Amino acid sequence: MTGPDAVLRWSAQRRPAVERFPYHAVVIAYQHNGKHFVPAEWTQALTTARDQVPHLNGDNRHLSAFLAGTLDKVDGRFDYRSYLGLTLLPIPTLDQTPGAAASQLARRDRLHAQLLTDLIAFELRAATDDKTPLPQMRPTSAVAAKRLRHALRAVMPALQRLSYIDEPTTTSEIDLLRRVIATVNLDLTPEDRLALQVSMLPVHTIHDEWMFIRVLQAFETTFALLASDLTQIITAVQAGHTPAAATRLSAAASLLRESATLWPLLATIQPAAFHAFRPYTDGASAIQSRHYKILESLCRRPDANRLHSPAYLSVPEVRTAITEGQVSLDDALDAAQQPAAEDAFLASAMRGFAAAINQWRQTHYRLAVRILGPDRTGTGYTQGTPYLNDARHEPVFRRCRPTPPDAGGKA
Ligand code: HEM
Repeated sequence: MTGPDAVLRWSAQRRPAVERFPYHAVVIAYQHNGKHFVPAEWTQALTTARDQVPHLNGDNRHLSAFLAGTLDKVDGRFDYRSYLGLTLLPIPTLDQTPGAAASQLARRDRLHAQLLTDLIAFELRAATDDKTPLPQMRPTSAVAAKRLRHALRAVMPALQRLSYIDEPTTTSEIDLLRRVIATVNLDLTPEDRLALQVSMLPVHTIHDEWMFIRVLQAFETTFALLASDLTQIITAVQAGHTPAAATRLSAAASLLRESATLWPLLATIQPAAFHAFRPYTDGASAIQSRHYKILESLCRRPDANRLHSPAYLSVPEVRTAITEGQVSLDDALDAAQQPAAEDAFLASAMRGFAAAINQWRQTHYRLAVRILGPDRTGTGYTQGTPYLNDARHEPVFRRCRPTPPDAGGKA
């Protein structure tokens, strides 16, 4: 492993070019050491590079965000967003323009496909090449095969919607996996490739952390889309377009149910591997997920207890938006002139969406208990699984009683 010479050379130029920054060298060093263990010569070189950034010409936002992510631990700012490099990924944004729904779904599907395909490529490479990063605690070939099977299942619906791949007719699974990699890679822009590279900065060198990060990022991508959907559904209700709101909410529920295929994939994590890297993720908990909390609070304004608990104190911007009057779907229905709340189609869509959220919470809880135990403390300064046990009973909407989650929901 070479030292940070490329970074030092870049910084030493009189006018370094933003686009010439040696991202690749930095990512390789981080992946081979783990962010928590990266030698000080690297963080010192990156700090010097960061000092240069304000003086550069051109758009330096991406480089600034990347350097902030590499230096989050030394700066004492390591958190969920910086751990997952969320600002470096093309996650769906809130877009209210007409026709935006289809393009936002395509954006989500592309990123979902890229994240999972990167995981598939990593697993296949690790099975044959001992130079693959994160060499510790490789899974057995049986676990790796199961993981690949679940990754394929989780990626297929997005690939089919994007018309990247039709109904799989290929005979062997390995052929299909290679076809998926080839097809997705063919469509990657240079920006996509960079985003995938820079968003993989594990804290340690344990094999399973790659999968853990990609699954979290994939869920975040879906939460972001659903949060955007909810905003538009609320606008539709306010404009009296109840059938459009109901159709959109049903589609959102289907997407959330579809993304549940990520759970059996994550469930292939080796508990010992998870416990080996988890101490170094301290400070980064999904309780800080803005997209999840936006989604939750757009359904129903959280009760005061929850709003003043770590659930929302961990996402201050979301909490502020709520206290400043963010309108939830429940609120919009309360204020609706026409009897939108009595609309049977919308009521049924709300029940379906609430059931999908409850199923998500239930599966998450069960997996967390399986991996952490029933009363292990979490990384988000909560009581861990007891916190999740309470949170899963939060009503999604005040207005509807969902059918209870399928008791057989498997992680
Ligand atoms: C090994 C798998 C996982 C375990 C053991 C686990 C455990 C936990 C724990 C203990 C909490 C409570 C907060 C804390 O103290 O940290 C939590 C919260 C949360 N986790 Fe996970 N988690 C896992 C996977 C995931 C995945 C894949 C996602 C998808 C993004 C996720 C999303 C969330 C969210 C959104 C919260 C906040 C829930 C709320 O505030 O109501 N978790 N998780």
